[in-house]
Order: sequence, then C-alpha cells, then structure tokens
Amino acid sequence: MASSTLFHILSSLFIFCLASSFSYAAYPNNNQVSLTSTAYLPKLQAEKLIRGLNLFPKSSVNTAAAGDHASVSAPKLVEKQLSLNPLGDPGPSVQEFGHHAGYYTLPHSQSARMFYFFFESRNNKSDPVVIWLTGGPGCSSELALFYENGPFHIANNLSLVWNDYGWDKASNLLFVDQPTGTGFSYTSDKDDIRHDEEGVSNDLYDFLQAFFAEHPQYAKNDFYITGESYAGHYIPAFASRVHKGNKEKQGIHINLKGFAIGNGLTDPAIQYKEYTEYALNMRLIKQSDYESINKLIPTCEHAIKTCESDGGDACSSSYAVCNSIFNKILGIAGDVNYYDIRKKCEGDLCYDFSNMERFLNEKSVREALGVGDIDFVSCSSTVYEAMLMDWMRNFEVGIPTLLEDGIRVLIYAGEYDLICNWLGNSKWVHAMEWSGQKDFGAAATVPFKVDGAETGQIKSHGPLTFLKVSFCLFLEFMMLVIWFPWISLKLRYKCSRAGCKGNLP
Ligand SMILES: *[C@@H]1O[C@H](CO)[C@@H](O)[C@H](O)[C@H]1NC(C)=O
Ligand SMILES: *[C@@H]1O[C@H](CO)[C@@H](O)[C@H](O)[C@H]1NC(C)=O
Repeated sequence: MASSTLFHILSSLFIFCLASSFSYAAYPNNNQVSLTSTAYLPKLQAEKLIRGLNLFPKSSVNTAAAGDHASVSAPKLVEKQLSLNPLGDPGPSVQEFGHHAGYYTLPHSQSARMFYFFFESRNNKSDPVVIWLTGGPGCSSELALFYENGPFHIANNLSLVWNDYGWDKASNLLFVDQPTGTGFSYTSDKDDIRHDEEGVSNDLYDFLQAFFAEHPQYAKNDFYITGESYAGHYIPAFASRVHKGNKEKQGIHINLKGFAIGNGLTDPAIQYKEYTEYALNMRLIKQSDYESINKLIPTCEHAIKTCESDGGDACSSSYAVCNSIFNKILGIAGDVNYYDIRKKCEGDLCYDFSNMERFLNEKSVREALGVGDIDFVSCSSTVYEAMLMDWMRNFEVGIPTLLEDGIRVLIYAGEYDLICNWLGNSKWVHAMEWSGQKDFGAAATVPFKVDGAETGQIKSHGPLTFLKVSFCLFLEFMMLVIWFPWISLKLRYKCSRAGCKGNLP
C-alpha cells in the first residue's frame, strides 16, 4: 500500500499495490507540499508502475465521447450473452451456464457507464453471488478475471483456456471495472471521476441495484464482496453502503453475508508503521536502515492525523510523506518485486499482462463484449491520481458495525507481499475495537490446511477471520483452496504466481 494497489494472487501472495515511489526529497518540508506538486508526481509514478505490468493503455482514463458508444441512448442495462469459446474442459459439473458482459448507467452520475462481466456458477445457480474488485486504484478487474480467479486464462496465442480454479466453480461471479474511467467503464463528464469512497461505494451500490433488478433470480442468493490491495479501501466502504441500504430499505434488499480482503490497504496509520518491521524480519533491510527509516514514522502519523481532521490537500500530502517510508525501503532492497519479495522485477517488468490488452482489443472480442469503439484502459493513471485524497484514510472504522450485525469478515494476506504485507494487516485486525476483540486476540492460531497440506495460519472468532498464507504449494499443479464453512464458498486459486513455477503471472 505504499501506494496503491492492484491485485494479487493467493499463492504467494499477491497484491499489486501500485507503489508510488517518487522521492521524499521532492518534499523538503511537509507543510509546503501543495496539491499541485503531489498531483503531478504520483501520476508519473502510476504510469511507471503500469508499465511495470507491461501494460500500455492508449488513454490515461476512459472518457469516451457520448457518441462513441452505440448504446448511448440505450436503456439502463445493455447486456450481452457471451460466448468466447474457451478451450479445454469446463468441468464435469457444468450443465448450462451463462456468461454475460455489459454496461449499466449509473443514476447518480452525469453520464457514467459501468462495465462488468457476469459468470454464472459452473456448479449450481444457487451458489453465492460474489463480486470481485481489483485495486490500483484504477486497475481493471479483468486483471483478476484473466490472471487470477476468473473462469479462464489467456493462452499466449490469445485463446482462452478454462481455469480449473476459477471461483465460478463455486459462485456466480461478477467482475466490475471501477471506479469510472477504469477498464471499459467510461464517462463523458469528468465530474464522474471519483475522489473518495463515498463516490465509489454509491456507484457500486447503484450498479448492484441495477444488476439485481435485471437478474432478480439471484437477489435471494447469499452475496459476498471480495477483492485485493486498494480494494481494502473499497470493500469496507461498499459493504457499509450495502448494509445501510438494507437497513433503510432502499431498493432491492441485498443478501450481504460477508466480505474478504486479500493483501489490502485498509488502515494506513497502522499498516505504514509496519513496513520497516516486515522489511527487517524478511532481511530486506539492516538494523541500521530500520532505525533510520523509523524516524520517518512520527511524521507520517502526524500527516495522517492532519488528513483525518482537515481532509483535502492534507490527505494528498500525507500520501507523499508516508510513502517515503516505503520508497526508502525499496531504495535499499533494490529491484525486489514488492508483490513477492522472493522475486525480482526483471528489466522494467514485474509481470507481463500484455496478453490481456491484446485480447481485449481484438475485434472479435470487442464485438462479443458489445463495447463498440470504447477503449480498454487496463489501469488508469488519472483514476489513480484522482483517488490520492482517499489513500491515507482509515476504512477499518466501518467494520465493527458490520461485525456486530453478523457480517462475516475474512482478512487474508500472503507472507511474501511487501506492499500490503500480512504484518500490517494482522496488526490492524487485532487493534480493531469490537465486542469480540478480546476473544479474537485470545483465539488460537492454527494451521490452515489445503488438501491435507499446511499452507498458512488461521485465527478466528465469531464473524472475524484472519489468515496468513505462508506456503504456496510445492507443485505447479497443486492449488490453494480456502474453504470457510461459514462462507459456504470455496475460494480457489491456482498456485501460479510466485513460489511455484511461475508459468503464469
Ligand atoms: C443446487 O443447490 C440447491 C441448494 O443447495 C439444491 O437444492 C439443488 O438440488 C442444487 N441443484 C443441483 C443441480 O445440484
Ligand atoms: C492456443 O494455445 C492453446 C493452449 O496452449 C492450445 O491448446 C491451442 O491448441 C492453441 N491454438 C492454436 C490455434 O494454436
């Protein structure tokens, strides 16, 4: 979280926080950090990080002119049944299933249209409905769809191949491009570009309302919100928005049962403080580095307090101030891949997601998706920059109310991710004040096993669970299955990124 985020993959842990590594030296005096100076460098940084994923979106944000899209005068919903003809075997349990993609207009926007994929369960349509949000902020959820937990992956020849570990084997799965301007989601009015979680969560709530209005047969299913990295901000805000809508009997009741955040950024004041501790434990820095970098922590804490009280520019400044901690560590650790410290970023690349852009820009695919001439903005540096003021805000604050009302919460983190590391996540989860705090703290940490093999450590009390994923399994073809009886949903990931052979990013 030093900066923002994208996604991650459970095996070794994933996450992609887009880090902002501009130098603290540019800000000799915190008080002099102006919005204009902070706005400029993060954008460059976001662009650099997007290139680090081997992505080259044509535009920095999706602001299609109204005439660009055939559906502009269309009704609220434009949805197409998809058939992308994936190769391989979808699995024995499939009878019939629907794949859809489309746009909803967002009623509280000027002209925003939110793009999504919806994959009916390969198992049983009464499985939970699960929505996935990739982080960034500003990265398309298609990153997860095609490289992590979606129904298929993209082969090098751009064929799709069924993913045996797609979450659509256990859930009805939604991937949404958001905030507006990301992926295929677009607007012609810059007022629709969001700057905070209020805007983000209202749009997501409107999206869900439209989705369930169109697919009423799914409204009675259990509903879960999931995602990673910067989605550690989106998810608690979105869950709170849904909960509030339910309590106030707005629109369609949404059967929210829980949410899960993987290697997220949720409580920056706690998480930024743990960078040096984690880096020292993992031998990325030496004791002397640890002591000198720790001197930046009080300034960061102060900046976050000022952000909480003053908002606005103070929040952008706190982003700059606090990220200097992360950047100093990276300066010492060199070209370490901060999503998996066991790896290095080779050349300029930490990963290669270019097949996704190639695939989504193919004419036949665009026709199948019904996106017309709309650009695909894999990661939007403009959206990233627009969310700067949101970055250092604390979204742990909304979670206790949800826990008290029985909403289940899973916070999981892989051991080798630096940028949204497990230690910072564990600290905020333990520090969170709720009626079960003491019992959660006293609960035993026990091995978490997948198919009999220990893959991590888990701790639970009532509706709250924390999981540290420590081992990617040794064999390329083994998978990691997180199974929470309470979720009645199996979250499966193929062990494909670091730790295993790494044949897939
Ligand atoms: C789907 O799940 C429901 C509820 O668990 C069950 O009643 C139904 O038989 C299942 N359908 C199939 C096709 O397995
Ligand atoms: C594309 O790649 C997939 C997976 O490697 C393979 O199964 C398929 O035969 C290839 N298709 C073509 C047309 O070469």
